[in-house]
Amino acid sequence: MIVIGGTASNSIDDKVAKILGSRSSKVESKLFPDGESYIRIPIEVKGEEVVIIQSTYYPQDKHWMELFFMIETLKDLGAEKVISVIPYLGYARQNRRFKDGEALSLKTVLDLLYRSGSDELITVEPHDYDTVISFFKGKVKIVDPVPTLAKELKKITSNPFVIAPDKGALSRAERMAKELEAPFSFIEKERDRNTGEVRVKYSHISGVENKDVIIVDDIISTGGTMAQASRIAYEKGAKSVIASAAHVLLIGDAKDKLSSAGIREIIGTNTVIPPETVKVVDVSELIAVRI
Ligand code: R5P
Repeated sequence: MIVIGGTASNSIDDKVAKILGSRSSKVESKLFPDGESYIRIPIEVKGEEVVIIQSTYYPQDKHWMELFFMIETLKDLGAEKVISVIPYLGYARQNRRFKDGEALSLKTVLDLLYRSGSDELITVEPHDYDTVISFFKGKVKIVDPVPTLAKELKKITSNPFVIAPDKGALSRAERMAKELEAPFSFIEKERDRNTGEVRVKYSHISGVENKDVIIVDDIISTGGTMAQASRIAYEKGAKSVIASAAHVLLIGDAKDKLSSAGIREIIGTNTVIPPETVKVVDVSELIAVRI
């Protein structure tokens, strides 16, 4: 087996190769003067099982295209099997047509992934497990970072209470609550599909007085969802609020939004490269054991 790191592997490739004791290499890449991506696989892969590691965060389109180029090249060069490890699955949230006529982007990228030659997909906590499994025609393995995040959270909370900031995050919150042996509850939110703004539809939260509240989500993007949930937790009497997510993007003024909503700590993973102030747990080992 050979592990190859793409341009957005966040060093997960080095750690995974070390854990597996396998050979490893880095893809060669550059941009042509007109902005197109150049990709080269610098090693012999004929007859090999190849694990290619590439996260598909910003710039998502570039990282996805590079991945398609790498996979097809590997197969052209005679690789026996290609396993794509995509720690952050870009476009995971465009998994439904929320408005008529919208592109089903997740289906398109997963279709292209399969058609490029990827036999297997391993990804960390995608937005919705079911759509990933149904859109990718090969084998899918999903890595759950919750137990690892919970280990860190145990160190910084004493009386935890877990909140899902929307119904979609309920199963994550439930998994986290189980790990922390804590109660959990949820909020129902609505997002304006034109402005992107989030609004609380209904809060089911009670019993958070003097608790260390942990809001659990798959992703923190603009921070709107976390900030709303944090305000509600404080209104209901929470002692402190921590934001926990697999993928911490923090777009634009997200960090300020979170701190003005009283969030004392943000915890995420290395599926993306978050700002220094975020506490990051490494998912390399969790990925390696699934290969
Ligand atoms: C959506 O349902 C997701 O699970 C997240 O709650 C959402 O995408 C977070 O985005 P933002 O940080 O922009 O509110």
